[in-house]
Amino acid sequence: MKRKGIHCPTIEDLVELSGIETLHPGGMALTQRTGQVAGLASGKKILDVSSGRGTQAIYYAQTFEVEVVGIDLSEEMISAAEGNAEAAGVADRVRFRLGDSQALPFNDGVFDGTINECAVGIPDDSQGVLNEMVRVTKPGGIVAIHESTWKQELGPEEEEEFAERYGTTPLEFDEWKGMLETAGLEEVQWEFDQWSKPEMFWKIRKDRDVPSHSKVFTLGERLRTLVRVISKYGMRGAITALQNERIFYRAVLSGKLGYCLYWGRKPARTG
Ligand SMILES: C[S@@+](CC[C@H](N)C(=O)[O-])C[C@H]1O[C@@H](n2cnc3c(N)ncnc32)[C@H](O)[C@@H]1O
Repeated sequence: MKRKGIHCPTIEDLVELSGIETLHPGGMALTQRTGQVAGLASGKKILDVSSGRGTQAIYYAQTFEVEVVGIDLSEEMISAAEGNAEAAGVADRVRFRLGDSQALPFNDGVFDGTINECAVGIPDDSQGVLNEMVRVTKPGGIVAIHESTWKQELGPEEEEEFAERYGTTPLEFDEWKGMLETAGLEEVQWEFDQWSKPEMFWKIRKDRDVPSHSKVFTLGERLRTLVRVISKYGMRGAITALQNERIFYRAVLSGKLGYCLYWGRKPARTG
């Protein structure tokens, strides 16, 4: 679906503007699980697609002793990620590069594993993102993603409007699975229920929880984000942001929107 940008700032815009270091539901618990299912192990070379502020790439290098390349479309994110890797003392093993996930600037089959946390649904061509992730992975390597996934069947208009307000396109479970298979993965597996609880949507920060009544943002983060929204989008933007936030919370709390970890293997070369 091609988004029209009429409901900006979207929820994704708000999360990015907030300055919070991890930008996906499930927080670092889901990042840890993603690293496990992707089979990360010492000496492997991993691609983290849409690496944001680099929090996950740095975590992978520190926890699994892998070498990581992160790629992101935003210069601001790349520069924040490079600063974070330097501060964490892993800049020799974690590098970042500007680029588009729909046209990855790498040769075929160069990474032992490829991960995308929460950003396959953001660009227009989500199938293209998955195709590219599989292309740059070595035969036999794992591709892992986690994505917003509908728990209930909705009408196309409701789904489209929600995607406009969220800034990413949730799909039904079978659609994600089918797209991963179309990209060329075998043995596609998933974990849905444990990552779909509302509290998982609120866990988007690195080392701490917020009280559940605060949902995604603490009061301080909310005020800081509001100031940034007004300076970037004006008062109308602030009103849209509040509407989007209300609709997002309603979808999560009513059990319509879930979150799912998916992974699969690129077939080993035969012959
Ligand atoms: C929801 S954040 C996820 C960041 C990180 N993976 C995390 O979980 O914290 C989405 C990220 O995708 C990046 N992004 C959006 N469109 C992209 C594209 N076409 N190619 C690469 N990165 C993109 C944004 O700049 C942002 O850093």
